[in-house]
Amino acid sequence: MRTKYVAGNWKMNMDKAGAVALASELVEQLKGVDNKFMIAPPFVYLDAVAQVVKGSNIILGAQNIAATENGAHTGECSAAMLKDIGVETVILGHSERRYEFYETDKLINIKVRMALEHGLDVVLCIGELYSHKVAGVTEAVCEMQVKGGLDGLTKEQLAHVTIAYEPIWAIGTGKTPTPEEANSIHKSIRASISNLFGADVAENIKILYGGSMNAKNGKDLLAQSDIDGGLIGGASLKSETFVPICKYTV
Ligand code: 13P
Repeated sequence: MRTKYVAGNWKMNMDKAGAVALASELVEQLKGVDNKFMIAPPFVYLDAVAQVVKGSNIILGAQNIAATENGAHTGECSAAMLKDIGVETVILGHSERRYEFYETDKLINIKVRMALEHGLDVVLCIGELYSHKVAGVTEAVCEMQVKGGLDGLTKEQLAHVTIAYEPIWAIGTGKTPTPEEANSIHKSIRASISNLFGADVAENIKILYGGSMNAKNGKDLLAQSDIDGGLIGGASLKSETFVPICKYTV
């Protein structure tokens, strides 16, 4: 059985003291809890949070990486730099990067490969716009993003990849698909991965749900057969709202 993976994407929130305080609370409150956990603070607080989560059961994640190796790339932060300060995983392909920063599947794929080559795990985000949903092309959009994002990877590399299905219309809106609707999309994503990399890879890969997940709706979403965890935005910014989701048990 796939164990649940609950991840907090802090996006561009928090100050340094708040980031350290929240990380400390999570270390304390998630001690001994069995699921897999990750938090992704803003870049500038990664180093401070790294000191707090060191030796705990919380994985340190980054929200992006440069598509290039170290060098003359003003304003960028490389996979090697992130590894150097204790980052273990990176969120890539988030819809906020696809739509605010024009990241394409091609660029995302370059970043995915870069991360994996540097020994970072990847959480690859995919998901449809509301217009896609209305047009009935959600599965096709997700399949295209899976294909594009994972292009050229080996089966072995897939062991270091998690998918996060985040319907864009559900992010920060308080709206979610029904657990059954979400599960059916997760199944179709798993089927795409099976076609591309084989049934064994598809069976083992974790597919998280993201988009207005909270302690209340989280239980029913996480109870679904193909929803292996959550990528949480707003509700990950306070331990009171994040920890109950983390403590989900079957
Ligand atoms: P919310 O939980 O705030 O809807 O954000 C989800 C998300 O985008 C996580 O990456």
